[in-house]
Amino acid sequence: MGDAEVTVDFAALERATAALDPPFAVVDLAGFRANAGDLVRRAGGKPIRVASKSVRCRELTREVLAMPGYAGILAYTLGEALWLAGEEPAVDGPAAGVAGSGESAGRGESAGRGGAVSEDVVVAYPVADRGALRRLAGDERLAARVTLMIDSVEQLDHMAGVVGEGGPPIRVCLDVDASLRLLGGRVHPGARRSPVRTPAQARALAEAVSGRPRFRLVGIMSYEAQIAGVGDDPPGARLRGLGVRAMRRVSIRELRERRAAVVAAVREVADLEFVNGAGTGSLELTTAEDAVTELTAGSGLYQPMLFDAYRSFQGSPAAVFALPVVRRPGPGMVTVHGGGWVASGAAGADRLPVPVWPLGLALMPMEGAGEVQTPLAGPGADRLRVGDRVWFRHAKAGELCEHTSTTCTSSRTTRLPRRCPRTAAKATPSSETRHPSRSAARSGCAASPPS
Ligand SMILES: Cc1ncc(COP(=O)(O)O)c(C=O)c1O
Repeated sequence: MGDAEVTVDFAALERATAALDPPFAVVDLAGFRANAGDLVRRAGGKPIRVASKSVRCRELTREVLAMPGYAGILAYTLGEALWLAGEEPAVDGPAAGVAGSGESAGRGESAGRGGAVSEDVVVAYPVADRGALRRLAGDERLAARVTLMIDSVEQLDHMAGVVGEGGPPIRVCLDVDASLRLLGGRVHPGARRSPVRTPAQARALAEAVSGRPRFRLVGIMSYEAQIAGVGDDPPGARLRGLGVRAMRRVSIRELRERRAAVVAAVREVADLEFVNGAGTGSLELTTAEDAVTELTAGSGLYQPMLFDAYRSFQGSPAAVFALPVVRRPGPGMVTVHGGGWVASGAAGADRLPVPVWPLGLALMPMEGAGEVQTPLAGPGADRLRVGDRVWFRHAKAGELCEHTSTTCTSSRTTRLPRRCPRTAAKATPSSETRHPSRSAARSGCAASPPS
């Protein structure tokens, strides 16, 4: 995979959002749908559960679940899962268009579309939230639609203490560690998640669940973060890329055998409905494992910057955000308001947002992306006026929505270097517009559950 160009029509985005005041985020529906189709192709026939933390938009989650190849949601909190599995509450606040500015543009499309987004929602992370647990335990319909994650008896004890003994069964899923351990555990590629790693440990926990009548074990989840979430083709780091590829090969071999053994051991004590694995970066690898019945993906729908670093796929950057130019500190520089929309994870330059339009702008190394203002330098700066927008890509997917209350959707195309330059000097100016007449559609979209 080289530095192929993909298209985002910033001229169309500018027209479609002309009435809005930044900051706001836009999702390019054409890119989103193309990405969704490519994820299905890579999944090789196994259904994809949508990682809602990487979308965080009720309407777009609904949209992707309506496509063939998608089934169910992998949620990130129980509160969110109840929101997605239940009826949509009335929306009276800001809706279509303005994101993050607090302005109301009227009720969005989502306001008219009630009903559950999905009747199959797995919460991917352990839950301690007592209020949400009580809501789940007291509602037969929600209890049948939502599955909780466990990796210890301690968590079961906590939940049992909150939900009590009477009521509908609580569905649970076992989180099994998929990280790689080398040199006796001194080297540990992958996430520190579940302590359950071996077939014997998994079986023991499955037996602990079957000894409690209120709980029912329905699934296994085992997410290989070191394969799915680490790019094997990092820009400008050939040696690191070789190292990542070697680690991936070792990890896949180890995991294939261990995951199959764990699943077989648990199936001896529980009737599993699903075995979930993978993420955007590992779909084609994990689908080859017979023990895995379904996959997860989310980030690939928006294709944020961190996912440009993979050899096996090349998505379309579908999510961008706009910030307003507010001052000019000197020649060759402009400052936009806000901008510190930095991604989580181990801190580093790759977590910073990147200005992508107009071309020829870059963050300044000494200031980075600021809390209230972000200076940008480069040949693109002098063509900008106060009030113009600068468009950015976020390093991660759904995290972008933490800064916005609604998300616009639009359609695209203008050429954008796929690996967006981090320094203005490397920018390749281009303004070719392939479909200038294509009008941009917008839909309101509540980004997160009501608190
Ligand atoms: C449990 C689990 N599965 C899958 C994923 C992959 O999600 P995405 O496709 O958004 O990278 C994640 C991401 O962190 C995860 O935590």
